[in-house]
Order: sequence, then C-alpha cells, then structure tokens
Amino acid sequence: MINVCIIFGGKSVEHEISVISANSILNSINHNKYAVNGIYINKNGEITYTDIIKNKSDRLEFKPSKSNKILISVGSENSLLVFNKRKLIKTLRPDVFFPVIHGTSGEDGSIQGLLELMNKPYVGCDVQSSSICIDKIMTKKLIKNAGIRTTEFVEISKDDWVNKKTKILNRVKKNIGVPCFVKASNLGSSIGIYKTNKAKDLSKNISKSFKYASTILIEESILDVEEIEVSVLGNESLTVSCPGSIAPSSEFYDYNAKYIDGKSLTEIPYSRSLKNKSLGVEIHSMSTKAYKELNCSGMARVDFLYGKTIKRNKPALFLSEINTIPGFTEISMYPKLLEHGGLKLEKVIVTLINLAIKKYNLKKKLVTSFD
Ligand SMILES: Nc1ncnc2c1ncn2[C@@H]1O[C@H](COP(=O)(O)OP(=O)(O)O)[C@@H](O)[C@H]1O
Ligand SMILES: [Mg+2]
Repeated sequence: MINVCIIFGGKSVEHEISVISANSILNSINHNKYAVNGIYINKNGEITYTDIIKNKSDRLEFKPSKSNKILISVGSENSLLVFNKRKLIKTLRPDVFFPVIHGTSGEDGSIQGLLELMNKPYVGCDVQSSSICIDKIMTKKLIKNAGIRTTEFVEISKDDWVNKKTKILNRVKKNIGVPCFVKASNLGSSIGIYKTNKAKDLSKNISKSFKYASTILIEESILDVEEIEVSVLGNESLTVSCPGSIAPSSEFYDYNAKYIDGKSLTEIPYSRSLKNKSLGVEIHSMSTKAYKELNCSGMARVDFLYGKTIKRNKPALFLSEINTIPGFTEISMYPKLLEHGGLKLEKVIVTLINLAIKKYNLKKKLVTSFD
C-alpha cells in the first residue's frame, strides 16, 4: 500500500473548487493500491485533518474535522502529527503528497516549498515552475524569449503607476490600444481582470486591478477569440491531449462564467483544429515547448487564445497561460481532455503519483555535501 495524502481547500478564492477536485480524486483513486488521507486547509489557513465518509449517494467524501489540527514535522519519518486539544491522537507517514489547491498558496510554489522541506515526493510542478506559472508577466517573458507567440503587453508596478501615470497611459494607448485586458499578474479565476473597451476606462480599471496585486499587465485583446485548453502529463516524455475549446457564457471567461452560471460550453476536440491540421500541430508543439521551457513536471494545463488582434489581420494562436494545478472536478477540462484520449482519471492519478516518486528519487541522488 502506498500512503497518499491529498492537500486541499486553501486560503484562496478557488477554495470550493479545490474541495470538489479533492473529492473527485478520492472517488477515482484505486483504494486497493493507495491508502488515502486528507489535509484540509481552511479559509483562515489552518491545517486540519479530515475523515473520509460515505455520503448519501454512496460516494466517498472528505469530512474536515474542525478540532483535529495537524502539526507538520519537518525532516522526521512521522511527518504529520494530528492533535486534538493538545493531545496527540494520530501520526501519519504519507509516502507521497497530492496538492490540489488552486491559485494562491497552492499553485504558487508555497505548498511545494513546504513539501520540499519535509523531503517528501509530491504530485505536480516544483517550486520554481509553480511560482513562474502563477505569474502572468514572468510566464509571458519566458515564453516570448523562447519564441512562443503570446499577446503584446505592458507591465506596470504600483510605484510606476503612482509616479508616471500619464506616461504609462500614453504607452498603453500607443503600444496596446483598446480593447485590451487589464490583469493582476499573479491571480487566477479571472480575479482582478478587466476587459477594457474604451480608452477612458483604462485608468479606472488599472486602479481596480492594483487592489489585487502589486504588479499588473495590460495586454492586447484577441478579437472574436476562441479559447483553447490542452492537458499535459509527464516529466520528460509527455502525454499531450487533444485540444478542447471553451465558449464562455459571458463577454469573456470571467468568474461567473467559470464557476457560477454553468452555461459555458466546451468542445472536445476543438473542431477548428480538426479542419485546420496545421493549427492542430501548432497547438501540440507549442504546448510541449512551453511545458518544457517553464520546467513543468507532473502535470499542467496549457491555455491558448486564437484570433485576430488590432495589429494582426490574420487569426493566429497565442499562448495565454499555464495552470500547474488545474481543476480535477468531474467537469474539469484537464481530466476530460485526457479521458478523450483514453486515459481515465484513475490511470491519470496513478501516473501522477508514479511521476512524483520518480522525480523525487532522481533528486535524492544529487549530492548535498561537498567532500
Ligand atoms: N488577451 C486576451 N484577449 C481576449 N480574451 C482574453 C485575453 N486575456 C484574457 N482573456 C479572457 O479572460 C479570461 C481570463 O484570463 P486569464 O489570463 O486566463 O486569467 P485567469 O488566470 O484568471 O484564468 C480568459 O479565459 C479569456 O476569456
Ligand atoms: Mg485562465
């Protein structure tokens, strides 16, 4: 039996999605092969132990217990100590961790850093690639440098905005124009993102975006946009899914269209890529190249935008962002795209755990002292 510990919840706007993702993994994992435990991080950031129950529809469910707090013991074999009112009631020895916290504190390298200190294998990207991919500016700079097409953008720090407002507005108007997207650099779930159709709204939207992040970007809008997502699985040799597309129910794929109204439509495979074979090839090769360029491992979902821009009359493919902990709910694109290629979620989970252990074992061989 391999002990797997799923870490979910988190101090993030995607908390509820993470809970659904964790339960979906819990119900798809092979319980004959894996002994599963859960760590739930509540919205205050407290780390608690969770029981596993069977709900009314006979499905397994994590049941976080408020009173059972977890103490993490770095560097020891019994790495998780479960306390109830100062009394040690359980010790856990996970062989591998499976973090499924989306966005802040889970996808940004923090949890991965903790697991590195604990010296344990964990599923997904490492600290470095997680923290690069959560940052839209860093991602765009690196992929642009690698020759991967992405939208033109202007980055602004809070300090610049306070001191050089007019200069910045002129630069945005000259280099980007409207419509454009004003975005907080390091969030997800379309938080702090404002589609700006009129130049007069630019300043207001920039100020709004600065409420969420200290660095923001303003990027050119893709016109009549088609949104494409690809699932990638692997460390060195990669499984790349077919592309799927999403037609958001709102003007763009905002928080409401993503999680609330349930009216956004998906298409698997993305039909344009079937008609236009070279586009299909381009999506595949750009996904692979970006994944490798950003040093991803385990898994990631690579998102693209396809369409024209103010400057470009012919539609083209633009890499938009890379999500290192994609959604794992029953309706999430990451598992659905892989399933289309014949990989059921159960198999995806086994593969991810094996990849995590393989990466850890390779790293363990590195010399850590000099003699
Ligand atoms: N340059 C763009 N052109 C057109 N639509 C965009 C552009 N950038 C973002 N969007 C829209 O905004 C949504 C959220 O932007 P994205 O960069 O993916 O942020 P998040 O990390 O919050 O998902 C996208 O799914 C898309 O609908
Ligand atoms: Mg997105």
